[in-house]
Amino acid sequence: MSLTSININPAGPNEAREVTGIRAEEAYRRAELRAEQYLEQLTERVQGGSYAAELTEDFQVWKKSHIRPWPARLFGSRSSAQPQDYNRYIQWMDAAGKLNDYLARSVSYLYMRDLGRALDDPDTQSRIHRTAGGLKRSLLSGGDPQEGMPTDGFDTAALYRWGQQEQIEDTVIWMIAKMKRVSENIPEGMNAEQAQRKLLKIIAGVVLHAREEMDAQTPQAERSRRMDEAVRLGYSYGLTYPFVDDLLDSQLLTDEEKKRYSDLIRSALLSGTVPVWDDWSGAFGSGHAENFALIRYIHSELGEAFEYIKGRQSGEGGSVFFEQAYVFFESQDVDRNKSLADGTYTASQLYVPVILKSSGSRLIARSVGQGGGDGGFERRTFYYGIYNQLADDFADLFDDLETGAVTPYTYYWKHRGERPDLQSPFEMYWAVIAYLIRDVYGSDANTREVLLDRAINGLKRARQRLGIPRYEELMEVLTPGMPALNAVIQKMVRQAEDVEFFDKLLRDRMLTEMKKDREDRERFRSLLDEVRAQIDAALPISPDSNVPAVGDSLIDAANYSLAGSGKRLRPILAHLVATEGYGLDGQQVRPLLKSLEYLHTASLIFDDLPSQDDADLRRGRQTLHMRYDGATAELSGLLLIQQGVREQSRLQGFKPETVLELMHYSAHKAEELCMGQALDLKSRGQKLTLERLNEICFYKTGVAFEACLIMPAMLANAPQDQLKQLETLAYHAGIAFQIRDDLLDAEGEALQLGKPAGQDEANGSSTFVTVLGVDGAKREMWNHYCEASDAVRELPERLRFLKHLLDYLVQREK
Ligand code: IPE
Ligand code: IPE
Ligand code: MG
Ligand code: MG
Ligand code: MG
Repeated sequence: MSLTSININPAGPNEAREVTGIRAEEAYRRAELRAEQYLEQLTERVQGGSYAAELTEDFQVWKKSHIRPWPARLFGSRSSAQPQDYNRYIQWMDAAGKLNDYLARSVSYLYMRDLGRALDDPDTQSRIHRTAGGLKRSLLSGGDPQEGMPTDGFDTAALYRWGQQEQIEDTVIWMIAKMKRVSENIPEGMNAEQAQRKLLKIIAGVVLHAREEMDAQTPQAERSRRMDEAVRLGYSYGLTYPFVDDLLDSQLLTDEEKKRYSDLIRSALLSGTVPVWDDWSGAFGSGHAENFALIRYIHSELGEAFEYIKGRQSGEGGSVFFEQAYVFFESQDVDRNKSLADGTYTASQLYVPVILKSSGSRLIARSVGQGGGDGGFERRTFYYGIYNQLADDFADLFDDLETGAVTPYTYYWKHRGERPDLQSPFEMYWAVIAYLIRDVYGSDANTREVLLDRAINGLKRARQRLGIPRYEELMEVLTPGMPALNAVIQKMVRQAEDVEFFDKLLRDRMLTEMKKDREDRERFRSLLDEVRAQIDAALPISPDSNVPAVGDSLIDAANYSLAGSGKRLRPILAHLVATEGYGLDGQQVRPLLKSLEYLHTASLIFDDLPSQDDADLRRGRQTLHMRYDGATAELSGLLLIQQGVREQSRLQGFKPETVLELMHYSAHKAEELCMGQALDLKSRGQKLTLERLNEICFYKTGVAFEACLIMPAMLANAPQDQLKQLETLAYHAGIAFQIRDDLLDAEGEALQLGKPAGQDEANGSSTFVTVLGVDGAKREMWNHYCEASDAVRELPERLRFLKHLLDYLVQREK
């Protein structure tokens, strides 16, 4: 990929700086100096050993509430639920009287880490208790905690519902579309899922700050406005993670290109202006077209984000943001450009960028959302970041060694032999903890509690993950300078209880679910293609008519309509329900699938006639009445319907009564579809109520989806309650599908759709879009999506794959 065509803004940094008052390079030097001083203090503590004495003292106090006296330990062996068993675990915690502390600890940690609060502040304490109380109530009522923005990327329904609760539906719809584009544009070689997860986390972080700035007195309209802004700001800033950080970390760009790209970002931050996009300069051959498109997308998306953020910053706050962003970017850049092979790094080369980047991300999350100035926030966050970073780097040591990433841990691991001067990062980590407890948080008891809980928890998890022998080996390498303190720590790791955290539980659950979700989705996609190919091959009607010439040409006409770019959604759906859902044989249900597509195609032929929608394009080719004539179109439509009936009567291996019942049902649904079409045509020019819109839409489109779900279930003799659930699902999914169709009619392009765009408006049709407007239609679509997604959750496990189909229905582009 080549980036040389990006032209750095000719108005150089100096000129722009006068205009915006940004003193980014100066800010970087200041921050660097401060980090150097911090590092010096930490080093002194490590070398003098004072931190070890302090922490040993802290542990004496701490252990009272974490280590039970030995008789109890000996005799009180108690069973506990496993964290993997999410709901039971929470119930067990509650029954054991541990839930309150667990949640208070977890929420306190969040307030320190993500909000930069001091725990000795009474206001913070009361907020923590309120939040923990709310969390407890929602956990015990069996629901997922809906307090904040949900951050599991795959649960779009939860996200949308949160948007409804905050009255920012349009914002969430915007965000869902943005996230989708981002993940589509992440090139292979970068992890799209990870990017999406990080982006969500950043947005949630900015939202959290915004929420904390408000209280019960904030009027709803103001609240929605601020939440909307927080989501957009979070997205705009979060975008830099995939498109700056990850892109530069990836192997996609050459070194020279990375440098150019870095310069571009640096220039934007220094000048407060996005350098203009210098169109493809012709310097690179056409082979670069794909990369060109990617970079152009990134440039425009980042540029838009940058302008949005800039527009929200006022006066002082504006330059603070750019300065912090620059410090953050620059420190990451310095950090990234280190090489594990280089044995000459000094402590400050190793630690200063780490201090700056780890605090930088949290400082920006606040300044981007313009959180008001609470004096201590900046200071606490600056010192706090590295505590987290070193905990993460410890946990990732072996992964990072594999990828060759330089962290204090990997560097020490690799070079400790020939560099006796290197400080163990583990000792540094504990020195940070001692420093935070005493110097930053004034020996506050809650802070000591939470920090030590978290640290011991991290070690316990490592011990479990690595296995005891490997863990002990690792500890031996990391702790030569702290034997006494280490003995205390390891005793705590073995014996202490009640150091678990809710965010870890959530994260573990999320990772397992995300993995499963990804596997399911990939399997689902390949299944779609496979089934579509099978159906395509089976569809053509063989010209075996005994009405010479005319009969064959009518069949040709019907086959003409069947071919083309049809999505085959209905038969695919029926196939999956039959085989995946009910274990029926795919070959055996083939006639049903063909009948569904024949009936559907017939409905399209009629729908396109001049007497109905009068369309000239369908499935990427001329409509039948245009290609042939009206009579041929009508007769082919009828022929297809009869072919559908004929196929149904061919179903073998089922009870004859069942097949008859199915045919009866099918005819009934086809009648309803006709009535739906009639209602649709009659309602032209009318301003329908939402209720009426839903009703018409259900008949003209929903019933066909219902048939695809119900008919295979009928063949499988599914129980009545399952049929009911499938009907509910089909109702909402079918309407959501049609709303998407209406939206595509309004916003799409004929070339992509394979049928004309804008026909609804031209015909004066009453669709969701013409009645509710684009935004209103989107809201209604997501409403139905949420309802449908609830219905999927009620279904037996083997039918849950329908969730992926649902996602496809509302996100499709044709
Ligand atoms: C179009 O259905 C008719 C509607 C109910 C909106 P499809 O969008 O499934 O059309 P094809 O089968 O892919 O052409
Ligand atoms: C058609 O709805 C519903 C049918 C059952 C044919 P539309 O009229 O919106 O379908 P398109 O947009 O022409 O495919
Ligand atoms: Mg129509
Ligand atoms: Mg139409
Ligand atoms: Mg349409």
